[in-house]
Amino acid sequence: MAVLDFGGQYAHLICRRVRALGVYAALLPHDTKYSELEKSGAVGIILSGGPSSVYSDGAPSADPEIFSGGLPLLGICYGYQLFVRANGGEVGRSERREYGRTKVTVLSGGGLLDSMEGQSLACWMSHSDSATRIPATLEVLASSDSSPYAAVRLAGALQYGVQFHPEVSHTQNGQAMLSNFVFGVCGAERNWNMREFLDDSVRMLSLLEGNVLCAVSGGVDSSVTAALLNRAIGTRLMCVFVDTGLLRQGEAERVRRFLGQELEVEVEILDASDRFLGALRGIRDPEEKRRVAGRTFALVFEEFAERKGPFRHLAQGTLYPDVIESGRSAGPASVIKTHHNVGGLPPDLSMSVVEPLRELYKDEVRELGTLLGLPKEVVERHPFPGPGLSVRVVGEVTEEKLRICREASEIVEEQLRREGLHHKVWQAFAYVGDDEVTGVLGDERRLGHQVTVKVVESADAMTADWSRLDPGVLERISSRITNEVVGVVAVSYAISSKPPATIEPQ
Ligand code: XMP
Repeated sequence: MAVLDFGGQYAHLICRRVRALGVYAALLPHDTKYSELEKSGAVGIILSGGPSSVYSDGAPSADPEIFSGGLPLLGICYGYQLFVRANGGEVGRSERREYGRTKVTVLSGGGLLDSMEGQSLACWMSHSDSATRIPATLEVLASSDSSPYAAVRLAGALQYGVQFHPEVSHTQNGQAMLSNFVFGVCGAERNWNMREFLDDSVRMLSLLEGNVLCAVSGGVDSSVTAALLNRAIGTRLMCVFVDTGLLRQGEAERVRRFLGQELEVEVEILDASDRFLGALRGIRDPEEKRRVAGRTFALVFEEFAERKGPFRHLAQGTLYPDVIESGRSAGPASVIKTHHNVGGLPPDLSMSVVEPLRELYKDEVRELGTLLGLPKEVVERHPFPGPGLSVRVVGEVTEEKLRICREASEIVEEQLRREGLHHKVWQAFAYVGDDEVTGVLGDERRLGHQVTVKVVESADAMTADWSRLDPGVLERISSRITNEVVGVVAVSYAISSKPPATIEPQ
């Protein structure tokens, strides 16, 4: 299934929902040619939502053949409006915008809404434009108070448009609608599951010639990459764990235990923390920190490769959203921050890069990790940024602030585990800056750091919401931090979502 990306926040979600049905879906640039889609063997096309207005200058458009070719089509929100316009209808600013849950009445099943006729469904809407007039060729399948044409079908064709978002979990029967489209309308076959992906990957990776070097960080992605390669090429894989001094507590030990001892992967632990701290001294600008951390990593890594090589290949645990968000796909998603696991490699690298997970979403990687025998503790690890704690220490990176950040974050994670909440949230950590606030110890006033705890919920890190933790949980976290972490006198809780904030403080 081809999902064309018009820049909407839910574009990835559409892909993941289709994959959850057992059908491979790829997120492609919005202007991908119809002939290419046909050639790629796509069984259908879904047009994502997007922030633009279809009638404004420079608004992203689709190849006109998409609307006249024979492949089944589903336009969602912005994609729906393009579909309406392509068929001669009109789209304009709505008198009443619809945001959030909206009652939609299904008038006719028509394939997409099969078995939902007559039902009133709570659907997720997020639009300020809507179809103001539709041609007689478009049959109305569903309507809401503000959108009389909430779902339409092109008569005599396998083409649909919905103003609401079936991919969002708040849409009642949303997954059933996607399933109707994928299987009922497109006739797709189930061709995507992690067991087959594992077998295929092992087969492909075993064809690699020469030795492969893989940097592991203790995170899910690099651990799964290493375990996968270990299964495919055994002792021709060498892993290096660079202790940057910017990592989570106990990381080196964890890597030694789970990869080294349990999976018998060859891992060398390299302590480069002084080098990183030295290189980062005096730097306050977040992007500069990322660049320096990335460059230092590349240097340490290259030296290691030269010393232990030759290696023909370099393996990285890059994921699908990283590929898209870093602008390596030509889609409209812009570069938001420089992610060093994709951007920081030296251009004259003599090894070819192998990215066995570049097609996968995080939940798929976790499933793969479980199939590979990695323990829950590893597969359920929260994502962690490449530049590590350097982007969770606001201002200059110092040993003192790193220690506070590491210890406080460990408490946040550990407490959430105790409360049975750790696996329910996307990320949980603490960050620290240079601010000094006044506290009291006994009768004495003393200055100390204020630490900010951040716990977010997200499906794919493209958007995130702060977790509405129970005040009792927050209180336990807070008092543990002020009691156990030397130098901290106050704790705050971050309640900004992404956007406008990002998940990492820097
Ligand atoms: P932001 O802060 O952009 O983060 O909302 C989105 C997700 O990406 C992670 N992140 C990074 N990962 N290198 C990485 O490999 C980086 O430079 C980097 N910066 C942020 C972040 O932890 C979150 O999961």
